[in-house]
Amino acid sequence: RQTTVIAPSILSADFARLGEEVDNVLAAGADWVHFDVMDNHYVPNLTIGPLVCEALRKHGVTAPIDVHLMVEPVDAIIPMFANAGATHISFHPEASRHVHRSIQLIKSLGCQAGVVLNPATSLDVLDYTLGDIDYVLLMSVNPGFGGQAFIPSTLDKLRRVRERIDASGRAIRLEIDGGVKPDNIGEIAAAGADTFVAGSAIFGQPDYRDVISRMKAAADA
Ligand code: DX5
Ligand code: ZN
Repeated sequence: RQTTVIAPSILSADFARLGEEVDNVLAAGADWVHFDVMDNHYVPNLTIGPLVCEALRKHGVTAPIDVHLMVEPVDAIIPMFANAGATHISFHPEASRHVHRSIQLIKSLGCQAGVVLNPATSLDVLDYTLGDIDYVLLMSVNPGFGGQAFIPSTLDKLRRVRERIDASGRAIRLEIDGGVKPDNIGEIAAAGADTFVAGSAIFGQPDYRDVISRMKAAADA
């Protein structure tokens, strides 16, 4: 079992004070920074690019930066994020014509590689990727926006992904993204997740330390 990781999604941060927000959430006990990249093409929303990732590194952020690419195509932007200081890069297999090549590209640049499963994406894509990837990112909402409700059928899917990872014998993290809150993180952890993205649940609270410690306690219970 991997250690619990809490990865606040900066999508819900105050972008006018982003450096300070990231400093505060890390000082409050967050483990990774989850960085949502949306291109107004693969998903309807439009967010931030490598320039902002690089700015966080220049600001002094040393924590892992977990880049979640919701862009199509993916290969051209992967080296830009690796050069901008990303440590983790995940992409949606639907958005890459050559999934194996995209995984190898991420790894060749020294980053951890993840594949993302949308709510309706089957687990088949894991058949020929589990031997190479470092993490699976399971979406528990449709990608594109923060603040959506956790889709309940994801719990069963989480259990099935957990079984696949355990059967692989590899140290692959299982990250969950969308609608994670202090009151559901316990059952999400019990279903097999070890890495938890949370945007609105953390940045929507006045006391980041309080909400992160409650989430960690519930995940580890
Ligand atoms: C959605 C993003 C998520 C989002 C999560 O496309 O991938 O990372 O920010 O936000 P919450 O935790 O508010 O559902
Ligand atoms: Zn995300």
